Amino acid sequence: MKILFYDTKPYDRESFERVMPEYEDVTVDFLKTDISHRTVYLAKGYDAVCVFVASDVNEKIVRSLAELGVKLILLRCAGYNNVCIEAAKQHGITVMRVPGYSPEAVAEHALALAFAVNRHIHKAYIKVRENNFSLVGLTGNNFHGKTAGIIGMGKIGAAMAKSCHGIGMKVIAYDLHESTDLSFVEYVSLNELFSRSDLISLHCPLTKDTYHMIDIEAINKMKDNVILVNTSRGALISSEDLIKGIRQHKFAGVGLDVYEEEDENVFENREDDILENSITARLLSFPNVIITSHQGFLTEEALEAISKTTLENAKSFKEGTPIKENMV
Ligand code: NAI
Repeated sequence: MKILFYDTKPYDRESFERVMPEYEDVTVDFLKTDISHRTVYLAKGYDAVCVFVASDVNEKIVRSLAELGVKLILLRCAGYNNVCIEAAKQHGITVMRVPGYSPEAVAEHALALAFAVNRHIHKAYIKVRENNFSLVGLTGNNFHGKTAGIIGMGKIGAAMAKSCHGIGMKVIAYDLHESTDLSFVEYVSLNELFSRSDLISLHCPLTKDTYHMIDIEAINKMKDNVILVNTSRGALISSEDLIKGIRQHKFAGVGLDVYEEEDENVFENREDDILENSITARLLSFPNVIITSHQGFLTEEALEAISKTTLENAKSFKEGTPIKENMV
């Protein structure tokens, strides 16, 4: 089984190379470049390609892969909205993914964003480096005794709920399916969650129903000085409405690991570029907003789990028994 990796970052390569010895029949070549109509031809002679969240595996690319004899697309991530599944089915290409690797990795990053904006860690770090030891402007609020509102109580939402409970927060949640074995979680309606939460953390997938679920109407229902965290998908929040809400002083802080129009930026070093995307620039201009670049998944444990499952997927496919629950 020969796999061509696209869009390889140093941390991908390191984690895959660590587990490769366990998979003798699989060989991997790593490319830094992402898959595109120019680079797809490099996959000639390979059984599979491996891509990540930002790779655009559209209908044309899938068709080219089929013409080159590629039989398998391995996604080293959970989401598959970036692959034209219809085309893959039509051309007999199997698509496999890593449905869940480390919910705690993402939940801990959500918590880190919440703590950082609440206690102004981003500002304190810069101030102290400049020998400014004044505390003016750094007052936060205790999370202990406050209410965390979790939207989407799946694997990551549940891990976030446990962490919030652990620091003494009351936990309320909204989900389409009200089922959890966490006895401390109280399910409420979305409107009640908006009106009662001091911290709101988003953990539901992006669907046509959840697109812009946080708009100005929702923001107006929230408590003043609420903290909003999004580690799920950018388009859950209307950025224009978020900016309006920030300007109305609604938020004590906003922590975003994902945001609309992140695709051009994500995983790239653009430090010498003038950002033409005004949404990113505008969000970055607010002192109470922290943005990270889709790094919720980035822990050693998550990378190891991603590597192992991806190679297990490849192995199972080669053996003619692809792991059903990992097939898209
Ligand atoms: P999951 O499938 O375990 O849980 C999602 C939950 O959302 C389910 O309980 C589902 O019932 C609920 N849900 C679906 N539609 C809803 C709606 N309209 N309103 C309220 N709840 C709804 O997924 P998991 O593993 O917890 O991941 C959640 C999201 O986290 C993913 O969809 C992905 O967008 C994001 N993610 C972000 C990462 C990052 O690096 N920042 C890494 C991995 C995932």
